[in-house]
Amino acid sequence: MKEIIHFIVLFSISTLVLAKNEVETTHGRVAGTQFKTFLEEKKYQAFMGIPFATPPVKDLRFKSPQSMKPWEGVLKATKIKPACIQYNYNVLKSQYGEYGVEDCLYLDIFTPAVDENKRPVVIFLYNERLQNSYNKTKDYSPDFFIEEDLVVVTISHRLTVFGFLSLEDDTVPGNAGLKDIVMALEWISNNIDKFGGDPSKITLLGAQGGAVAVDLLIRSKAKKFFHSAIIQSGSSLNPMYLQEKVRDRAFELGKLLEISTSSTHRLLEELNSVSPSKLFELEYRAAPDDYFKDNQKGILTFGPIVEKHANGLITEYPEDSFENINIPVMIGFNSREGLAASHLYLETPNYLTYVEKDFPLLMPLRLKFRFDPFASSYYNAAKDIKNFYFKKGKVTIKSTPEYVTYIGDVVAYSLDKTAKMYANLSSKPVYYYHFDYYGDFNENKDLLLKKAVVEDGTWGATIGDELCYLFRCPNLNDKYAKLKSLEADKIGTQKKIVKMWANFVKYGNPTPENDSLLNDIKWPSYNLETKEYLLIGKNFQVKTNLWQERFKFWDNFIKKWEKRAHNGVVTDDKSKRDEL
Ligand SMILES: *[C@@H]1O[C@H](CO)[C@@H](O)[C@H](O)[C@H]1NC(C)=O
Ligand SMILES: *[C@@H]1O[C@H](CO)[C@@H](O)[C@H](O)[C@H]1NC(C)=O
Ligand SMILES: *[C@@H]1O[C@H](CO)[C@@H](O)[C@H](O)[C@H]1NC(C)=O
Repeated sequence: MKEIIHFIVLFSISTLVLAKNEVETTHGRVAGTQFKTFLEEKKYQAFMGIPFATPPVKDLRFKSPQSMKPWEGVLKATKIKPACIQYNYNVLKSQYGEYGVEDCLYLDIFTPAVDENKRPVVIFLYNERLQNSYNKTKDYSPDFFIEEDLVVVTISHRLTVFGFLSLEDDTVPGNAGLKDIVMALEWISNNIDKFGGDPSKITLLGAQGGAVAVDLLIRSKAKKFFHSAIIQSGSSLNPMYLQEKVRDRAFELGKLLEISTSSTHRLLEELNSVSPSKLFELEYRAAPDDYFKDNQKGILTFGPIVEKHANGLITEYPEDSFENINIPVMIGFNSREGLAASHLYLETPNYLTYVEKDFPLLMPLRLKFRFDPFASSYYNAAKDIKNFYFKKGKVTIKSTPEYVTYIGDVVAYSLDKTAKMYANLSSKPVYYYHFDYYGDFNENKDLLLKKAVVEDGTWGATIGDELCYLFRCPNLNDKYAKLKSLEADKIGTQKKIVKMWANFVKYGNPTPENDSLLNDIKWPSYNLETKEYLLIGKNFQVKTNLWQERFKFWDNFIKKWEKRAHNGVVTDDKSKRDEL
């Protein structure tokens, strides 16, 4: 008996005393490491590679994430884990080929201190088209938000075929990549207080594909895990994202792999043993041929879907939902998003002659109709667009700037619509920004300009250019170093941007009354009457009616052609038919 008591006493002492840098979580103990921020050299704690689900390997490959068992002993969380497996074709950063691992469901926590304080938390989600992610702190480091006394969390989740293959049944219902995020959010919600974070003040900050994830999760049951949202340059209204008929594509993928079966069980069993390289190689071919031309939109062979099951995560199209968003939202995009997508024409404008011959008709929104590519209406619709965007309605080798504008607007229109939807549906404020700043940290645009021969039309900021203002991009360390020597009264744009974002995370308002650093800026919330937004350029300016004329063009374009659609297809011009 004495021995047992002795044992119990010893045991409880050992669980109480945590070594430095150790935290007891719901699933076991983790040990982190210490870093210093770049500018202020403020110490902070990092816990990297904390698992939040059972590794999605073997039989679990395409399945919804499974909760994990607690671990024993102390988990060393001191090194960055590789990203989820993906196939990169990043021309800008010259990264090509397969990268990452399948056992990848880990999160990272960066906190100013592990103590009793409850700091607001920002969760950063970044990916490109739900296909590619990033190299964590080697690409985006949390320094600036740490200096604002925020806890920063990043989450790895499955991408591409691994995250989004679906058989649209109970075995593989789809959206696994999004469900990974939700499982991580639940873990964060249960544990972040032990890392000096406040579980009742969590903001999801999504950029590009990450923004699409946020835009989808905000209308799902995952919403209980966060309290405000930032949506940068990505919207689920962009017709490229939500997919249909993915079950057919899964079987098509099987066929390409010479798995001939109509049994989902067999198909899955076989797909589970195919190498990632083989899956990447064939994934694109499992999509219908000529999809782009037939549907006037991009495609992800495997992407998010509206699930059949009422208990699914995403159960309706965002445009069909009228529920109150009810949390503060910040949303915006950059002034020349189209630059990155037009890199070919910045480098070799001669290729624009092919654009004139075979104009890429692209719809900026998920629509209830498409154009029949063999009907004359298809060419007339393209003509409408050319007449609006291109001088004399013709694409020539001098048209690079105009092409950039067209491609950028195709993306921007869905974001503007999303901002309007939120403003219409939410009882909480929506803050709308337009990022048009070109300074020291526009990493993407600078990479583009290095290779470009065309300078015309390259003003402003391209896609992703806001990120190195919010996060430290290690490639730009020399440039950040210059900020160190600035005197306090010369606080620059970068600091102000971080401050506004941090304020939004803390107070649900980017420019609260009493912020002295920002007291010359008052960013009003956006609504459908005043339509006020913040222009982030050389100066910060409140303006109204962002790109009114160009967005009006698309409103009218859609209205005009929608009327001529029969059973969802625009075939031939009605007027033409009447003439015959
Ligand atoms: C990460 O870096 C490695 C090599 O350093 C590279 O091969 C890979 O493409 C990068 N991945 C991403 C997602 O940027
Ligand atoms: C605003 O929401 C209502 C439903 O509450 C809807 O009928 C209307 O079309 C929406 N307006 C806009 C501009 O989205
Ligand atoms: C502004 O005032 C509010 C309410 O008094 C306070 O909670 C908040 O910390 C202040 N914000 C700043 C940025 O000082």
